[in-house]
Amino acid sequence: MSSSRILSLLPLEQLSTASLAALFLVALPVLLVVGNVVRQKLLPKDPSLPPVVFHLIPWFGSAATYGMDPYKFLFDCREKYGDLFTFVLLGRKMTVALGPKGNNLILGGRLNQVSAEEAYTHLTTPVFGEGVVYDCPNDMLMQQKRMVKFGLSTENLRAYVGMITDETLGFMSKELKVNNQWQGFDALDAMSELTILTASRTLQGKEVRAGLDKTFAQRYEHLDGGFTPINFMFPKLPLPSYRRRDKAQKAMSEFYQGIIRKRREGTHDHEYDMISALQSSSYKDGTPLSDRDIAHMMIALLMAGQHTSSATSSWTLLHLAERPDVWNELYQEQKEKFGNPDGTFRDLTYEDLKELKVLDYVIRETLRLHAPIHSIMRKVISDIPVPNSLSSPKQSENSSYVIPKGHFVLASPGVAQMDPLIWQNAEEWNPHRWNDESGVAAMAAEQYTEGDKVDYGYGSVSKGTESPYQPFGAGRHRCIGESFAYVQLQTILATLCRNVELKLQGPFPSPNYQTMIVLPLKGQTKIMYKLRA
Ligand code: HEM
Repeated sequence: MSSSRILSLLPLEQLSTASLAALFLVALPVLLVVGNVVRQKLLPKDPSLPPVVFHLIPWFGSAATYGMDPYKFLFDCREKYGDLFTFVLLGRKMTVALGPKGNNLILGGRLNQVSAEEAYTHLTTPVFGEGVVYDCPNDMLMQQKRMVKFGLSTENLRAYVGMITDETLGFMSKELKVNNQWQGFDALDAMSELTILTASRTLQGKEVRAGLDKTFAQRYEHLDGGFTPINFMFPKLPLPSYRRRDKAQKAMSEFYQGIIRKRREGTHDHEYDMISALQSSSYKDGTPLSDRDIAHMMIALLMAGQHTSSATSSWTLLHLAERPDVWNELYQEQKEKFGNPDGTFRDLTYEDLKELKVLDYVIRETLRLHAPIHSIMRKVISDIPVPNSLSSPKQSENSSYVIPKGHFVLASPGVAQMDPLIWQNAEEWNPHRWNDESGVAAMAAEQYTEGDKVDYGYGSVSKGTESPYQPFGAGRHRCIGESFAYVQLQTILATLCRNVELKLQGPFPSPNYQTMIVLPLKGQTKIMYKLRA
């Protein structure tokens, strides 16, 4: 071989030793992407499986598009694939079933087919603590829900209205310092604070209200920091936030157990709160709840109610600040019903809240457009045959779909709630659609509140799994906090409305989908207020 030939080979030989590994590392992802595309586009598909959303990167799948704006992603996919499709989310296969029929398939799913525990426990158990909610068999959760429902009796809710009014008035004078001048507040910060103040004064109990100090706030923050989409996707990362969460859970559990012990040992008045209700409850076989279980249920209720309610009151206030005409309507409604001749109002009662129809429409409409939970998930534990009514344009005529064991299923009631095929001007916030003549909204609400009654073990509820309006979910995992949330929201809003005028500063905020609960985007939530003239 000539010397020039040898020289020309030299770099290649060097490449083979030093750079081949790097070349391989560069080529591997390309090969994986190409392989993934070929598999999706060219290889034959199993006709019994729902269509898969096209994605370039294997394992990562549609994580970016779903994560950035889940509703846009779901509506776009519905356009392409119909009401039933599967997408890949960081290695998980998520099968989405949309619309009322899809909601029915998932939220009304049978116990031997879908499991909420298997979908959520890795996220919730480190935060709530062991032994409750998704860290116990479903039958036990149903009994725990029955006990909580017992604690949310009309007698208790009736007692809460005055307490929530007091807290709201106190917040207005001490924190907002309401006067005749226009000032600004951050709707999300203010509503988060007011939500915890009112929930602790009522449902959580007076010891929790008295203990709302910096330590409590920090523990809450650390628990909350462990309740994010990252924790959902990656249950065990060696990160400081995971360690802070675990420490805070222990401390919070001890805090509640201390309250329970003291109550049992001492004499105290009858309390209208949940600790008291849970202390006098027991499972079907007569076993009472342990102190630990009560403590963990209280943490679960704290977490379940805080962001859902504060998101809803923030969105509602933001809409009302943008629409002074509706804020004024709410004021006139109260004046008409509860106004005194001297221009003051009589104190609100639980019964009064039911008379505030426009306020009811306002909250319903806000929950239609801003359902706090955009995706409800279950793990599939045995194959689910899909009824043909839930078809896809891609489906061949003779085949029926099956959602296989191992997939997750995802329902998004928000998609039906914003579906232009169901609601007129679906994107518009229009509280009066709830009493207009077309009756679509009324029908949706009726389907949601009436219809077949079922008892999953926590008392009779309307089935409602096929309704196009389900901000509180449906089926066995339906929310039990709705009555409390409504009393809290109605009382806060009615009290604010009696006292202040509002206007929105800046454009209406966009939703933030990076959190577990859909909140208005931080920094866009400023509202101006002043004392009513
Ligand atoms: C379940 C929404 C307030 C306690 C649910 C579900 C939804 C929901 C959609 C169903 C989740 C699923 O199927 O996986 C809301 C909204 C609220 C609210 C929109 C306020 C506006 C509350 C409050 C509490 C609470 C204040 C506690 C006092 C619960 C509980 C469950 C639940 C215990 C049952 C979970 C299960 O059975 O798996 N909520 N919620 N919620 N919620 Fe709420």
